[in-house]
Amino acid sequence: MKSKEILLFGASGQIGRNLIRKLTKINYKVTAVTRNIHRNGYLLKTQANPGYLELVELKNFNSDRIDDLIKNCSICINLIGILYEKNKDQFKIIHTNLPDMLSQKANKYNIEKFIHLSSLGIENATDSKYATSKLDGEKKVIKNFKNSIILKPSIVYSVDDKFTTNFMTLLSRLPFMPLYYNGKTKFTPIHVTDLVEILCKTIESKHNKLILECIGPEVLSFKDIINLLLNSINKKRLLLPLPIQIAKMTAKILQILPKPLLTEDQLRLLKYDNVKSGLYKTNYDLGYNANKMFKSEVDKYSYNWRTGGQFAKQNDT
Ligand SMILES: NC(=O)c1ccc[n+]([C@@H]2O[C@H](COP(=O)([O-])OP(=O)(O)OC[C@H]3O[C@@H](n4cnc5c(N)ncnc54)[C@H](OP(=O)(O)O)[C@@H]3O)[C@@H](O)[C@H]2O)c1
Repeated sequence: MKSKEILLFGASGQIGRNLIRKLTKINYKVTAVTRNIHRNGYLLKTQANPGYLELVELKNFNSDRIDDLIKNCSICINLIGILYEKNKDQFKIIHTNLPDMLSQKANKYNIEKFIHLSSLGIENATDSKYATSKLDGEKKVIKNFKNSIILKPSIVYSVDDKFTTNFMTLLSRLPFMPLYYNGKTKFTPIHVTDLVEILCKTIESKHNKLILECIGPEVLSFKDIINLLLNSINKKRLLLPLPIQIAKMTAKILQILPKPLLTEDQLRLLKYDNVKSGLYKTNYDLGYNANKMFKSEVDKYSYNWRTGGQFAKQNDT
């Protein structure tokens, strides 16, 4: 039996791909919007059974085409997000203006649900353009669509992420690892499958008008995370607390790279803990428990970064 039509923006990302797998398995028909069907089509097509997934290419946010898509769906989910700007005002365009436009159209066509992915820990980060653009996006969505659902995850990790995988690559190659703010910033990492469960529960629940912080079961400092990753790939590295002025200089240089390892904006954001704020409910308050533990999940794919690959034994330390 096929049920509601779901329209997904930002479908080819880590969360999108995992969500498509889950939604189509439980009989939702998904229309996935991507900027480049040739580059992302093979990734997306293999996530679902034929008949349950339709791919739509949208190179720019053409208002008429978005109208056509939104008027034919019952639930619209916006997963589009970026980690750094390559052009001026890109954060504002992607994190604020786009959700503004989508939620206005969701309201115009009176669809059942509009679900928007924002981020945890952005309320106090007023000096970060990423954080303020995300927060402005939330405000626009709340204003435009009265029954909006906003999910605010901490770091989302899995074999498909740009977090644990990038750090394991860096830790494999560098003789030392810089620690920003002494590695004390706290995170509550959530595994992508736990987040996708929460997303599905909010789709199926009667909740309207919800802002939910999505956190995993552990609070880990940046230094804890680096140590767990090092242990998982059987490597020892010098952890070097970096004075903030030197950190700022390295970010200035690193952000020039085509895919920056660190930007000045990310460095500013790293000052703020990424844990529940107390302002909103968390997934645990609704009984949507996230159970996956960081180390045991990372151990399942970290062998790619161990010397000896999949045949390497894991250290006990
Ligand atoms: N991953 C995390 O740790 C995390 C944590 C907190 C919040 N979030 C939020 O959750 C959402 C989904 O995260 P994710 O990790 O799945 O993101 P992701 O892997 O970076 O993918 C996001 C998608 O956004 C689209 N996109 C990227 N740049 C774009 C641009 N310039 N213009 C238009 N579309 C663009 C891409 O879709 P196409 O290439 O198919 O067009 C991409 O697949 C984002 O809003 C993110 O901010 C993620």
